[in-house]
Amino acid sequence: MITNFKGKTAVLTGAGSGFGLECARIGAKLGMNLVLVDVQQDALDQASAEMAAAGAEVLPFRLDVASAQQMEAMSQAVFERFGAPHFVFNNAGVGSGGLVWENTVKDWEWVLGVNLWGVIHGVRLFTPMMLEAAAKDPSWQGHIVNTASMAGLLNPPNMGVYNVSKHAVVSLSETLYQDLRLVSDQVGASVLCPYFVPTGISQSHRNRPADLDAEKPTRSQLIGQAMTGKAVGSGKVTAAEVAQKVFEAMAADQFYIFSHPKALGNVQNRMECIMQQTHPTDPFAERPEIGRDLKAALRAD
Ligand SMILES: NC(=O)c1ccc[n+]([C@@H]2O[C@H](COP(=O)([O-])OP(=O)(O)OC[C@H]3O[C@@H](n4cnc5c(N)ncnc54)[C@H](O)[C@@H]3O)[C@@H](O)[C@H]2O)c1
Repeated sequence: MITNFKGKTAVLTGAGSGFGLECARIGAKLGMNLVLVDVQQDALDQASAEMAAAGAEVLPFRLDVASAQQMEAMSQAVFERFGAPHFVFNNAGVGSGGLVWENTVKDWEWVLGVNLWGVIHGVRLFTPMMLEAAAKDPSWQGHIVNTASMAGLLNPPNMGVYNVSKHAVVSLSETLYQDLRLVSDQVGASVLCPYFVPTGISQSHRNRPADLDAEKPTRSQLIGQAMTGKAVGSGKVTAAEVAQKVFEAMAADQFYIFSHPKALGNVQNRMECIMQQTHPTDPFAERPEIGRDLKAALRAD
């Protein structure tokens, strides 16, 4: 829980675009110091310039969140400059699609590297710093928000690697919450589970590193890319609205943050299937045409 953001420090990964950028904008308005982390240099430069012009103290890092070494160096530099950060947003992530058996080792390594290891590094490096700051000062407050997805609570077909990465982030975040409650009341945790929101996510391949380069995409990967692009692009909730919810959740010490609470019926359906021991059901029950179109596209000659 954080009730007063002024003069506090935020570390935001994926700060060059989408939810990370929108949270940086709110942080700047609230008078926070901003550590902006992104792998894309031009997006990072632009975000840094914008936040500095808005009056924020900015510390930018171009790095790959999947790299233990780069994340360690960044966390040390943050500590030296600002001390323990109050808000850590482990948010950088990339999208991927395709039938689960068609993904290459490099596909798995890239997506799990960014979406899961990026969050793991943020948690393992910053939580001890935050707990130490809390132990020294009973008024110190901090909060960690990890970005998962509704794909961390549902398993839509043709996007298995992404689903696996996001389920792992939900698990890590719930466990983080439980573990924190054992040792402190001053450091909170939340998990952000967006549904389809227009951001740069459907163009994630723009930042895929050369050493984990993609092979020629399979048909199911091309179909997945097109369908996700359409779903994300037609989303009605904005990234700025989602970022606002992130700050409200920190102030209210709310764990689950949803961009589309109405989509939770799908999670309930999934849980019913587990309870009733039936087969997994359509994860988009309210929009059966998604599954129908996908099936037709994959079975077409
Ligand atoms: N937009 C959606 O519909 C949606 C839905 C569910 C979950 N999410 C999640 O939201 C998070 C933010 O994504 P977004 O939608 O704002 O997309 P985005 O592409 O607009 O922003 C992601 C940012 O992360 C950066 N990034 C990518 N790889 C990186 C790496 N290895 N190291 C550091 N930075 C890296 C990108 O350069 C980009 O600036 C992701 O974890 C994504 O999975 C998005």
